[in-house]
Amino acid sequence: MFKWASWFSRDEIEKDIFSPNGRVRCHFSLKNGHVFYSVFKNDKVIIKPSNLGILICGEEPFQNNLKLVREQSRRHVETIEMPWGEDRYIENNYSESTFYLAENKEPRRIFTLRFRVFDHAVAFRYEIPPQPKFSQITIKDELTEFNLDLNTTAWKIPAYEPDRYEYNYEKTTVFNLKKSVHTPLTLKTPNGYYLSIHEAALYNYGSMTIKLNERNILKSDITPLSDGTKAHIVLPFQTPWRLIMLADSAIELTTNRTMFALNDPPTEDFSWVKTLKFIGIWWAMYVGEWTWAPGERHGATTEHAKSYIDAAVRLGISGLLIEGWNDGWEGDWLENGINNKFTVSTADFNLEEVANYAYKNNIEIVGHHETVGFIDNYEKQLEEAYNYYAVNNIHYIKTGYAGSMMLINGRREFHHSQLGVNHYQKTVSLAAKKKIMLDIHEPIKGTGIERTYPNLLSREGARGQEYEGGALSPSHACYLPYTRLLSGGMDYTSGIFDLANSVKRISTTLARQLAYFVTIYSGMQMAADRPFMYEEKFPEEFSFIRDVPTNFEKTLPLAGEIGEYYIVARKDYDSEDWYLGGVTDETGRRVHVNLDFLDNGVYEATIFADSDDAHYRDNQFGILKQKKRVGKNDSLDLYLAPGGGFAIKLKKI
Ligand code: NOJ
Repeated sequence: MFKWASWFSRDEIEKDIFSPNGRVRCHFSLKNGHVFYSVFKNDKVIIKPSNLGILICGEEPFQNNLKLVREQSRRHVETIEMPWGEDRYIENNYSESTFYLAENKEPRRIFTLRFRVFDHAVAFRYEIPPQPKFSQITIKDELTEFNLDLNTTAWKIPAYEPDRYEYNYEKTTVFNLKKSVHTPLTLKTPNGYYLSIHEAALYNYGSMTIKLNERNILKSDITPLSDGTKAHIVLPFQTPWRLIMLADSAIELTTNRTMFALNDPPTEDFSWVKTLKFIGIWWAMYVGEWTWAPGERHGATTEHAKSYIDAAVRLGISGLLIEGWNDGWEGDWLENGINNKFTVSTADFNLEEVANYAYKNNIEIVGHHETVGFIDNYEKQLEEAYNYYAVNNIHYIKTGYAGSMMLINGRREFHHSQLGVNHYQKTVSLAAKKKIMLDIHEPIKGTGIERTYPNLLSREGARGQEYEGGALSPSHACYLPYTRLLSGGMDYTSGIFDLANSVKRISTTLARQLAYFVTIYSGMQMAADRPFMYEEKFPEEFSFIRDVPTNFEKTLPLAGEIGEYYIVARKDYDSEDWYLGGVTDETGRRVHVNLDFLDNGVYEATIFADSDDAHYRDNQFGILKQKKRVGKNDSLDLYLAPGGGFAIKLKKI
């Protein structure tokens, strides 16, 4: 079984693994029984020699007295075709080196380190085979370091806080990362390189957060379980990939799709999966017109649902989300979440009738499950709840995990712990079996598993527009493309037109609400305001939301800086049309956009941009609407007002 252990054995090794174009180099070394790696780009050091290892409960660290018993190297060249997303084609080209290690003393345990070096990333993972003396382990700690210069700039959100990932990004330095932060952790080295540390293919393990250790080196901090350990594991096991995305500029970083390449292709047929744009019985609750709970102002009534279905048909939108339809929302729904029943409607909502009406009108219902983190309650009902939707032709579900902790097996656990990760995975796998597509709010962060499970169409997992009304600054959406969105699409609940509402005032201009549909990708994209805002108040602006695709052939980020601005062009998956979007922070700015990415031919540009006097505080509705003919030799000069943006449809004619 462990035959390879006798092939050869070396106590020291220094090995360079070069990316296909030779510009990225990962150096692996084994010295005095320890293993280290470092990362270089263009021969400039990005990550200095960093420790690797694993600490298993009741055992010596899996880090010392190591020798190399076998090494394998190979090249891989592949173009992956994605069924939906920001880019139809993703390059998966890398050099791989695998180091099989064994302890040279008792207990003579063995493990493997697999490295993949891409032109724009380095990734590695630990693979632990069954050991001569045991086949189950409990992980006490993962000893992976990311040894960066302490003056490296970092854009962080804190970990282990009650609102999960829903915090404002802060610019700081590595020196200040004394408390754990979430990944993707985006960084800029003093020598000018950009990187983001993240993970790919997170299964059956605690999510990785990062903080400085006692030697002032960034180190993985795996989210613990309530028993204080990090993961209970049956061998063989492989950790998620530790992923270091690399770029020469902030804007180049946003094109990095290595996370998806590190996930496995699907093993089942997912040809039934379709991205979706939907409206919802939702924002009316946020502005206090309706309620989730039953009562005089209950939102999810049969009557309201039918009238929203009619509105969706008139608006040319394919889906309708209905929140607050089920029994259990009474009183303080966060406190009472354990009462949620997922197969029982409120008295004034007839799910079968609404579902039939939607079906007849060719509208997809997006069902809603707010678990409030009461996982024991949800998992008891899960199979039946999904069946209930499936038999009623409901193929999309938005799930929610509000609450600061999850209740699993009667204990309070982090959403991002091994048990949380396993719960989310259970929903994704079961949904795949039932041909259901998911949009998970308060999710586990994206690690690219939608490559394997394309029915996972979207997540929230950062502050979205529900935080408007005071807690969102214009810079927030300018951080997202460089941070949170490196982990996949996000349901930001865009398209709020009622900007000056006295209950929830929005800190954007009108044009920027359209821009979000281009700058923030989501496989399930919500047009979040109430239908009358689209039909009666701003039908022309709404036409952009109706037309903008939810699936793109390719994405070309054009310009931007972290937290300041972001300009991106995307080509529709199903037509020759292109869409352009841009957002800026509190600073107004002019940008010059060359249209040289267009194909040959003439395009009709429909432009929604901020007027010269627009401003997110006192002139939110200042908008310029223009149509003109353009081609690939043209360029556009665009103004983005403070807290503003633009959205442009380029239709091939
Ligand atoms: C928080 C989610 O982000 C939001 O979209 C949802 O409406 C509420 N939870 C209630 O489930």
